[in-house]
Amino acid sequence: MSALESILKETRSFPPSDDFRQKAAIPGMEAYNALCDQANDQYLSFWGDLARELLTWKKPFSRVLDDSAAPFFKWFDDGELNVSYNCLDRHLPENANKIALIFEADDGAVTRVTYAELHRRVCQFANGLKSLDVQKGDRVVIYMPMVIEAIVAMQACARIGAIHSVVFGGFSAGALRDRVQDAGARVVITANEGLRGGKTVPLKATTDEAMDMGGCESIEHVVVYRRTDSEPVKWTEGRDVWWHQLVDKQPEQCEPAWMNAEDPLFILYTSGSTGKPKGIQHSSAGYLLGAINSFRWVFDYKPNDVYWCTADVGWITGHSYICYGPLGIGATQVIFEGVPTYPDANRFWRMIEQHKVSLFYTAPTAIRSLIKLGAEAPKQFDLSSLRLLGTVGEPINPEAWMWYYEMVGGGRCPIVDTWWQTETGSAMIAPMPGAVPTKPGSCTLPLPGIMADIVDESGAPVEAGKGGFLVIKKPFPSLVRTIWGDPDRFKKTYFPEEFDGKFYLAGDSAHRDENGYFWIMGRIDDVLNVSGHRLGTMEIESALVANPLVAEAAVVGKPHEIKGEAVVAFVVLKGPRPQGDEARKVADNLKQWVAHEIGKIAQPDEIRFGENLPKTRSGKIMRRLLRSLARGEEIVQDVSTLENPQILQQLQESA
Ligand code: PRX
Repeated sequence: MSALESILKETRSFPPSDDFRQKAAIPGMEAYNALCDQANDQYLSFWGDLARELLTWKKPFSRVLDDSAAPFFKWFDDGELNVSYNCLDRHLPENANKIALIFEADDGAVTRVTYAELHRRVCQFANGLKSLDVQKGDRVVIYMPMVIEAIVAMQACARIGAIHSVVFGGFSAGALRDRVQDAGARVVITANEGLRGGKTVPLKATTDEAMDMGGCESIEHVVVYRRTDSEPVKWTEGRDVWWHQLVDKQPEQCEPAWMNAEDPLFILYTSGSTGKPKGIQHSSAGYLLGAINSFRWVFDYKPNDVYWCTADVGWITGHSYICYGPLGIGATQVIFEGVPTYPDANRFWRMIEQHKVSLFYTAPTAIRSLIKLGAEAPKQFDLSSLRLLGTVGEPINPEAWMWYYEMVGGGRCPIVDTWWQTETGSAMIAPMPGAVPTKPGSCTLPLPGIMADIVDESGAPVEAGKGGFLVIKKPFPSLVRTIWGDPDRFKKTYFPEEFDGKFYLAGDSAHRDENGYFWIMGRIDDVLNVSGHRLGTMEIESALVANPLVAEAAVVGKPHEIKGEAVVAFVVLKGPRPQGDEARKVADNLKQWVAHEIGKIAQPDEIRFGENLPKTRSGKIMRRLLRSLARGEEIVQDVSTLENPQILQQLQESA
């Protein structure tokens, strides 16, 4: 049975245990419904009260929402605060010695950092950035491994009001260059190397390559954290600065820059339907409020919890649920440099046991791959510290959900399947774990204050069981403010005219069941979700056609047991169509090419060669047909409008 079919047939439901419910922040459906009603009736004071309760303001705001320039909404916009102050300083009077980070390195070495120590490190690094003349509003690109310093760098930017843009360490030089260029960054912060799964990742060398490509002229400094003792890296005098030399002798205090609530906190690039990634711009106050509030509700956070999110800071999950939400509330969290399968596939379970993790948040793809590598493995470990499990990034198939529930959670931990996006900044649809019974494969019900719905093309709500567009009908504090440098694209993409520009269009299709539960069906645009990573088909196509051998390329997704979706590329070469060994050789080269152009995560699983692609008479590529071909389905669509129907047979063969 396919994942989709099994989701459609799912009827099991798991309410929280009495014990969990009684101790929860939102204890039961009545409490949940009361909060939803409150948000419905008094939308602005609902958010205003939360902003006063959960954030510490330098200057209080007098207005909750300014929608006069919709969809460019402003929240709390005459208030002033500092995000790093909210994540660090305000915890110090009572919790200076509380552990903020338990860092487990790739090789298993563990370092614990208290809030006081993290504060000191952030202040020193912030002073270091200031000594490089980094100013409020400047853009700083962070291209780091998953180490404590990545979080220090993000928090230090927030402290001085610089806008960070984290680029995932697995991205290529070209992808780094594009992001540096679009953001107009003045500084890149990187490491000499990263360490993952016992292997080194040449971050500084890739940064150098990006700097030499042209387009990075705005960069004045490259700050390099020494993660490994390997050979010296190539050094550009005057531009490159060692992290340890930069912070050496810097004062241990750094007055936070007081920022307007709406000042951008960060830009994070994500894929859309065009070849160019979008710089998703988030605000300071609204974003932080969303991160903190959702963190405490979704994970039912308690001060003695040990929380672990396995994401990388290169993605939005690592921003909201490592760097900002948990620190904003003063939590103790594990951060992990490595990969789940090194030194063996028990790494997660061993770490949960060792650090007594109580809240664990990971991606369905990790769960599926670990099932495959050892379905009984968790039994060998003491996982009794766990009290809640979470998933994010892609739909979870009910089989994997049940395994997670029983094998990892011992049948006692609620699973929070959290639906959200880079653009929403914080979780939108997820069970309030002490209230909402969970169903395997469903992200269940929206958070109080999130007006999610499913509508048809005309914007009218669809009835239960019918698929439609997932929208959010009212703006909320952590919503993307704009696309960096491209407000028109922001408006067109997210607040399209089809819905009178009123609803936030998420780009996903979904349906609701008879209990109003949301079930996410997939993207409505040309975006793939490979192992929870969002990839634009056009980005991969552009990378392919940049290869001198390639004339034309079309990329589609097909279901994959572990990754959720796999990338299949249909390619027309400039020369003759290759066959047999030759085709395999060219395909391998092209796969490596894409890995080099974008990053390994975008590498096609499969490449097929044709003399042409299936096109309509007006020259439009028929992607629907390509999707059917990739899935090995029989072509049942009408092909009479095709210019070249005979091409389909050729494209059935994989290289
Ligand atoms: O398609 C949805 C899927 O991931 C997309 C957002 O990707 P990104 O911006 O990279 O953020 C991922 C981490 C929040 C969504 O449009 N998605 C995310 N969470 C879920 C999901 N699909 C199903 N269930 C989820 N829980």
